[in-house]
Amino acid sequence: MRDFESIYPTPLIKLNRLSKILNNEIYAKLEMLNPTGSHKDRESLQVLKSLKGNEVVIASTGNAAISLSALAMGESVRVHVFISKFIKKERLDLIKAFNPIIHAVDGNYADAVKISEEFAATNKIETANPGKNYNKIIGDSKVGEEIYEQIGDVDYIIVPTNNGTLLSGIWLGIKNKAKPHMVAAVAPKSKAMDSISGYHRFDQEELEKAIKESEGVIVEADDYEASKYALELTKDGIFCELASSASLAVVPKLGLKNKKIVVIITGNALKFIKSYSKNLKINK
Ligand SMILES: Cc1ncc(COP(=O)(O)O)c(C=O)c1O
Repeated sequence: MRDFESIYPTPLIKLNRLSKILNNEIYAKLEMLNPTGSHKDRESLQVLKSLKGNEVVIASTGNAAISLSALAMGESVRVHVFISKFIKKERLDLIKAFNPIIHAVDGNYADAVKISEEFAATNKIETANPGKNYNKIIGDSKVGEEIYEQIGDVDYIIVPTNNGTLLSGIWLGIKNKAKPHMVAAVAPKSKAMDSISGYHRFDQEELEKAIKESEGVIVEADDYEASKYALELTKDGIFCELASSASLAVVPKLGLKNKKIVVIITGNALKFIKSYSKNLKINK
């Protein structure tokens, strides 16, 4: 166990003010308090523990690359990061801080995934991409286990979703103990939720299985709502990415009352403060 692993479990806190506003009992699971400020550390830890060689390939929208590059520093593992050349500068700067080998791709995240897979196959290097490395789901299952240890059964768990890795992992961790409905908050058309925009579903099979088994649902969040609820969370001292407040933003769309709901707050806004400030202006 690495020393920093003693930070687990991450806090699960009751949002008293927002529970009243939204007519449900709402808890926030603060995955943004992982070492590199996102739940991706859960995945990176497990990927690195299971890695056979000393190189790994990952395509990313930011957080996954930051996490894997940072945690690999203590392991003498070389990380190849494939990233869209259109990525925001503050995201790229933070990735660079942890010194991976960066491959800029002339395309979007999906193109970066494709090219990274080709590179990995040609060079016989393992990939840490969603849909290709089940260790990520195993790593995320800890979040589900912790939720159950912290408050037992709940009615709903809402997860900001792009590939479906995190949602599938949480379901894996809790499904033998409780039966919450798993809700994917997705952002196919978003311009502000950098970490989840596009709804790429590279873990689609697992995602669909989790939604079906849990009798869950997939709900769209839009930029205005994510921004509104990021501001609400800020009032309670929680500074998260808009991609993360998407989980809270879909609560009103579910039409629920007096239910026990856990929203997963995946990423810390302090990493990408320019985007945070800009996007909060959507509400002004
Ligand atoms: C902050 C944040 N939230 C949520 C997600 C979505 O996770 P997944 O791709 O496992 O659905 C990501 C993925 O990059 C992320 O960075």
